Amino acid sequence: MRKAADRAGVLVGTAVRPAQLSEVAYATSLSREFNMVEPEDAMKWWVVRRNQDTFDFSPGDEVVRFAHAHGIKVRGHCLVWARDNPEWLAQGHFTPAKLSRLLHNHIAHLMKHYAGQVFAWDVVNEALDENGDMRDSIWYNRPGIGFAGKGTRYLEQAFRWAREADPQALLFYNEAEGEELNRKSDAIYDMVRDFKRRGVPIDGVGLQLHISKLDLDVAGLEANIARLTALGVQVHITELDVSVPLNPEGELVSKDDLTRQAQIYRSVVRACLQTSGCTAIQTWGFTDKYSWIGSSSHGSRGMALPLDRAYQPKPAYETILEELTAGRNRKR
Ligand code: XIL
Repeated sequence: MRKAADRAGVLVGTAVRPAQLSEVAYATSLSREFNMVEPEDAMKWWVVRRNQDTFDFSPGDEVVRFAHAHGIKVRGHCLVWARDNPEWLAQGHFTPAKLSRLLHNHIAHLMKHYAGQVFAWDVVNEALDENGDMRDSIWYNRPGIGFAGKGTRYLEQAFRWAREADPQALLFYNEAEGEELNRKSDAIYDMVRDFKRRGVPIDGVGLQLHISKLDLDVAGLEANIARLTALGVQVHITELDVSVPLNPEGELVSKDDLTRQAQIYRSVVRACLQTSGCTAIQTWGFTDKYSWIGSSSHGSRGMALPLDRAYQPKPAYETILEELTAGRNRKR
């Protein structure tokens, strides 16, 4: 995949876990197949800020070191999110002024540490609910950093701090379930258009694409990618996985599901490649041996990734490879 992606001029990435980098099969597949990686958890608040007064960069640094050794780009994830925050922060009952200082300091410190090594950051993750309204969070309104009830104003502040911290990094808004045309993707579009008009620094939108229905409105995804890139921002597919139903023994419920899964992977890669502003396709892990789907679905779904548990290619790997090989200018 990596060679085909290089030739197509697109980034093909995966989320990675530093603890697995010492496993030979994991590391070998990773450096062979991908030209981009993103720490699945290693740059989140709960890892970096286990304690209020210190920063632990070592897990993130391991990812950066591996990537550097293999000529792989690193995407950073994530600076502002309602979830995956340490207890001291989530339950800290800080004032808005204190939270504002904490966030500003976090963004500045983390981004400066990785400046020149992390080329793009998810500055804000999942700020909207399914209706496209602002989600409650410590950063927005519980109690927030000072802009409670003021819509996207707190995101704007985070993006401005991020640009200040590392002017070279690409700044992304990353979101789930806003990939097809719906109320949430409309709200993302409106926000990005507003930010671009007013000069708020934003360079891209990350579409997560955790697909759990073996079903995708491809035309809607294509139209959404087209309208976002028309605003002058890049689109990255950031967390693609396509889970299938499993029985209580952890086996496939229907043997056709891996074929259907492969078709969905094909459609997503093709949708990205057909718009030049869609510049990266990243899966959320790459082997079924390590995937968040098992725990998040309590075992009812799984086998969501292109390589199986033994690092062997599945039908999805073949369709991704075919589309990357066909590249951006294939006849449609
Ligand atoms: C998930 C990780 O995969 C898990 O390891 C962790 O326990 C929880 O977070 N949207 C995101 C990702 O933006 O950060 C989440 O990652 C999956 C959903």
